[in-house]
Amino acid sequence: MKKLVVSTGAGISAESGISTFRDAGGLWENYPVMDVASHDGYVRNPALVHRFYNERRKALMNVEPNAAHLLLHDLESEGWEVYVITQNVDNLHERAGSTHVTHLHGELMKVRATDNEHLVWELRPEALETTPETLIEGHHVRPHIVFFQEAVPMFEPATEIAGEADVFVIIGTSLVVYPAAALLQYVRRGVPVYYIDPNPAAVPAGVTVIRATATEGMRELYKILTGKDTPR
Ligand code: OAD
Repeated sequence: MKKLVVSTGAGISAESGISTFRDAGGLWENYPVMDVASHDGYVRNPALVHRFYNERRKALMNVEPNAAHLLLHDLESEGWEVYVITQNVDNLHERAGSTHVTHLHGELMKVRATDNEHLVWELRPEALETTPETLIEGHHVRPHIVFFQEAVPMFEPATEIAGEADVFVIIGTSLVVYPAAALLQYVRRGVPVYYIDPNPAAVPAGVTVIRATATEGMRELYKILTGKDTPR
């Protein structure tokens, strides 16, 4: 089976109603990123960081996967082995049914022990709020998010997946945050690369840019990859 590797950013969830970070009105315009999403910020004021992610979780409960997430799952029934590598901390790829999802920047619906990074729990929908005082099985917890200034443990496995791609697709990312933005460098020479974004960043020659929103662009890509009309 041919392997389709898809690297997604905040733009794929924009049409579901989740704000991106760096567009006009984006999250980093309204929140100081180094306060709510950096290691130093967390050490300085953990309560603020918990509150920020509590709000993000609540917002996530009110949105649904969109046609772009769903079409990626549809491609699994069309003879493609689809591997999603996402910078997003939402769970919309999973909720759309995608089988293989790697989260580079962590997962909003999970927390981990502050004294043991390997102890990770999924939060129950009825208990989404955490504070620095929250105890789970006797451990204080923190958001299971990769803060700025922290290592990105899933990057290495992601580079291996990227290196196996027969087709590589980038959707809805400004390509400014490393190491995620460097994934393209691990794609083998000669592999077709598509980049779907209404306001694409500069990319190397040879990348086919589909200047469109995620849902429009995925409909176009679905036709290219399957030769069929899009089901959505
Ligand atoms: P950005 O907010 O930096 O970029 C969003 C991208 O989505 C831009 O290129 C937009 O043009 C594009 N976009 C906007 N609307 C779109 C739509 N409807 N369809 C498709 N694309 C659309 O978000 P990321 O690149 O994902 O990390 O940001 C990377 C990381 O920076 C995030 O994972 C987050 C943030 O700080 C952490 O918090 C650790």
